[in-house]
Amino acid sequence: MKVSIIVPTYNERENLPELFERISKALKDYDYEIIVVDDDSPDETWKLAEELSNKYPVRVIRRTKEKGLSSAVIRGFKEAKGDVFVVMDADLQHPPEIIPELLREIEGGADIAIASRYVPGGGVKNWYWYRKLISKGAIMLGRLALPKIRNVKDPVSGFFALRREVVENVELNPVGFKILMEILIKGNYKKVVEVPFVFGLRKAGESKLSGKTMLNYLRHLYRLMRWEGELDRLIKFSIVGFSGIIVNEGFLWLFVNLGLDKYVANVPATELAILNNFLWNDLWTFKDLKRKPLWKRLVSFHIAALTGAIFQWAIYVPLVWLGLHYLVANLVGIGASFIVRFAVNRHVTWG
Ligand code: GDD
Ligand code: MN
Repeated sequence: MKVSIIVPTYNERENLPELFERISKALKDYDYEIIVVDDDSPDETWKLAEELSNKYPVRVIRRTKEKGLSSAVIRGFKEAKGDVFVVMDADLQHPPEIIPELLREIEGGADIAIASRYVPGGGVKNWYWYRKLISKGAIMLGRLALPKIRNVKDPVSGFFALRREVVENVELNPVGFKILMEILIKGNYKKVVEVPFVFGLRKAGESKLSGKTMLNYLRHLYRLMRWEGELDRLIKFSIVGFSGIIVNEGFLWLFVNLGLDKYVANVPATELAILNNFLWNDLWTFKDLKRKPLWKRLVSFHIAALTGAIFQWAIYVPLVWLGLHYLVANLVGIGASFIVRFAVNRHVTWG
C-alpha cells in the first residue's frame, strides 16, 4: 500500500521542517510520498519544500494561476500516485502521529478515516467557548441539512485519509469550501470511521481562513443540498404546506356553515389539513423514503406538527413581549415551525 500525503500550503515555510520530520518518523514503516500544493506563497514555501525533497520524499506543485484550499487538495488528488490519500494542514495543528491510526482504519476496511475533534477523546486546544459553539453549531446545521452525513461527528475536519477510489473520477467542486464535506456527499464509499485527535495550536504563521468562512460554509451547504435533492424536498414540502392552508381554511368554512361552533370547528379542520399534508408528502416529497410502517409515519408526522406548533408559539410570545408587531412575530414563528417540521419529518418520519 502506497500512501500519498497531500499538504496544501500558503506561507507555511517555518512549519515545513518539523512537519516533514514528524511525518517521516510517524510513517517510517510505510511507503509514502508527500505532495505539497503551494499557491506561489510570497514566503517561498514551495522553494523550501523543493530543497527539503533531498531529505524527504516530497513533490512540490507550485500553482501560479489557481488559488484556494479546496482546489489545492483536488489538485493533490490528481497528482497523487498512492492507493491511499491523506489530507492534512501544514501548520502542525494536525499531529502527524495520528496518520498511522488513520491508515490502520483504512487497512481494516474503512473507505474514509476522519481525524475527528468531536468523538470521545478528541478536542480542540485553547478555543473560547463561543468558538466551540460556532463550530459545533455549524456542524449540527450541516448534519441536519444533509441526512447522508448525519452520523459523522466532524464532517468539516481538514485531516483525513481515504482510498483512492473514493474520489477517483468524482467531479468535486473546488469552490466548495469544506473539501471533506464535498467528498462525503459526492464520493464513492461505504464505511466511514472517525479517529479522535486534538486540534492543536498553530506552530508558526497565521490562519488564512477568516470572517467570510461562515457565509461560504452556508453557500456550500446550500449547493450540496441542491446536489443531494434535499432542496427539492424542501420546496415540495412548502408547496404541500400551502395546500394545507387551503384545506384548513376550506373545511373551517364548511364546518362553520354546517352549524358547528367556531371554536370547535378549528380542531377537525386542522386535523384534516394535517392528513392532507401527510398524504402529499408521503406520495410526493418523500416518496422514496418510506422505510417505516404507515402507522409510524402517521404518528411521527403528528408529533412533528405538534413540535412545530410549540416552536411557533414559543417564538411568537417572547417576540411580541419584546415589542415586535404581532403579525411579524407570527411570521417568524411560522418560519421556525416550518424548519422544525421539515427537519423532524426528514430525519424521523421519513428518516
Ligand atoms: N494551497 C493553498 N491555497 N493552501 C492553503 C490556502 C490556499 O488558498 N489557504 C490555506 N491553505 C493551507 C494552509 O497553509 C494550511 O496548511 C491549511 O491550508 C489550513 O489553513 P489554515 O489557515 O491553517 O486553516 P485553519 O486552521 O483556520 O482551519 C483548519 O481547520 C478547520 C477546522 O476547524 C483547516 O484544516 C480546515 O480545513 C478545517 O475545516
Ligand atoms: Mn491552521
